Amino acid sequence: MSYLQVLDKTFIPLLSESQILDRIQNIADEINQDYKNKQPLFLVILNGSFMFASDIFKKLSIQSRISFVKIASYKGLVSSTENPITAIGLDQNLHGQDIIILDDILDTGKTLYRFVHDVVLPMHPNSVKIGVLLYKPKACVFDIKADYVGFEIDNRFVVGYGLDYDGYARNLPEIYQLKS
Ligand code: IMP
Ligand code: MG
Repeated sequence: MSYLQVLDKTFIPLLSESQILDRIQNIADEINQDYKNKQPLFLVILNGSFMFASDIFKKLSIQSRISFVKIASYKGLVSSTENPITAIGLDQNLHGQDIIILDDILDTGKTLYRFVHDVVLPMHPNSVKIGVLLYKPKACVFDIKADYVGFEIDNRFVVGYGLDYDGYARNLPEIYQLKS
């Protein structure tokens, strides 16, 4: 068992590169089937999802488009309980489109919940599905479900394959979890 050191934290291997790529092939097969006669628009949430999106997109045989968005929350001028969010880089009109949102991980669910309800649904797309590589069922507290899930994992911090600790470890082709 080879440990990974990132800054002050130690990680142990969780998913190998071939496990990840095999599972992504399965998800791509499902999407190719589900969207056979459609032309979905993929919305990829940066930064963590860039590897997942790239690998899944290469395995698609349907006609589809992809767009990358970064979620930011900004402080409103009037006081409110929640800061509004904005999707930087989202320049398409989603009206009538079949949308597939891709994210690296469904953790508390806050990011996806806010993106779907504040940004995507108000534009009246034809349909919305969500694909995530990782899902932490024990961490998810928002009312949001993914339609395509790579792996269900424990409620432990993970890095690699796009996911970072303080900006580092995104480059690794496999996924590691925090050593207890
Ligand atoms: P949320 O809590 O579901 O809103 O997750 C927000 C974002 O936090 C995810 O899209 C990831 O970028 C990041 N994140 C959540 N859990 C982890 C983790 O275990 N490792 C690295 N990043 C994470
Ligand atoms: Mg993310």
